[in-house]
Amino acid sequence: MTSLQPDGVDEVRQIEAQAAPARFARGWHCLGLTRDLGDGKPHSINAFGGKLVVFRGADGKLNVLDAYCRHMGGDLSDGEVKGNEIACPFHDWRWGGDGRCKQVPYSRRVPKLARTATWPTMEQDGMLFVWNDPEKKAPPADVTIPTIEGVGTDKWTDWHWYTTVVETNCREIIDNIVDMAHFFYIHGGLPTGFKNIFEGHVATQYYKSEARPDLGSGEGAAILGTTSVASYYGPSFMIDELTYHYEHGDQSTVLLNCHYPIDENSFVLQYGITVEKSDAVPEDLAMQMAVALGDFVKMGFEQDVAIWRRKARIDNPLLCEEDGPVYQVRRWYEQFYVDAADVTPDMVDRFEFEIDTTRPREAWMKEVEDNLANNRLPRLVGLTT
Ligand code: FES
Ligand SMILES: [Fe+2]
Repeated sequence: MTSLQPDGVDEVRQIEAQAAPARFARGWHCLGLTRDLGDGKPHSINAFGGKLVVFRGADGKLNVLDAYCRHMGGDLSDGEVKGNEIACPFHDWRWGGDGRCKQVPYSRRVPKLARTATWPTMEQDGMLFVWNDPEKKAPPADVTIPTIEGVGTDKWTDWHWYTTVVETNCREIIDNIVDMAHFFYIHGGLPTGFKNIFEGHVATQYYKSEARPDLGSGEGAAILGTTSVASYYGPSFMIDELTYHYEHGDQSTVLLNCHYPIDENSFVLQYGITVEKSDAVPEDLAMQMAVALGDFVKMGFEQDVAIWRRKARIDNPLLCEEDGPVYQVRRWYEQFYVDAADVTPDMVDRFEFEIDTTRPREAWMKEVEDNLANNRLPRLVGLTT
């Protein structure tokens, strides 16, 4: 509703935006694939406003420590793995996965209180996860990332994996969970069903779409539509069970979409695709499909990124009836930015919301028919501009 100012001018809606929080979300974050990070060499990762070193010790355990040596600040990720420890390149102090200095080779004893910051780790389905908690508490047993059925068996392909840096605060990618309309305008989808359920640390998006006839047939078998059930488990890790419907049948895929913050204004976005093999889709064809779908998903994320790069941060979005529950998903997301003791029921209670797609579909079909009649391709950000 608008009110009139004394001078008779309609009140202008102001965009409100506080600076992004300097605190980083509590929860499991995937840092990448163990096939890359677990090769016995030290790896440096900029995350959570600092720098981490990841290394696998001779005992096979993957460790994550603050990269800066507590002796005189050497960068441990430039060091060397020696046995179960990471040796600093500056004066060879040896740090164990528990964060304790185990040895100073040139000294009679290790200084007392020689301890550095560590992150609890978990290896699962070929990925390395770290638990971030500003309160430095251990991960609760019930806050887990589910294992993905079939993955890691010979029925599914290996991960086809992408990593990219996005220069914005990671709340933007969380807003996407509830954003039905952008699927049409940004991703060239034609939503036919859209629903969200938030409960505890899980936020799910149910999305059904049909192929848009005005997008051209493209290469390969025509996709009739997709069915997607995508859940965030905690603040940063989404598993999307994504089924592509073709004329000849359905194809199951799993799409992972995860990120970790570099700092409050940038994050690393990673996504991985695996495809189910079958008699009709043997190993090499399944891998080709994973690569092709990966390229397709990459295009989708690049479209989102093109928007995020230029958009304003907005704390008070102005919504219409056919928009999804932006304020509620942000309330759900807030649980990861407060102390565990300060999590309130409205952040974690079950919340369900389904968008009636009737009105949007009418408008969108009209636009599609108009494009077809005029032999015009839709204008999609990042693709046709
Ligand atoms: S700074 Fe690391 S050993 Fe001296
Ligand atoms: Fe998107």
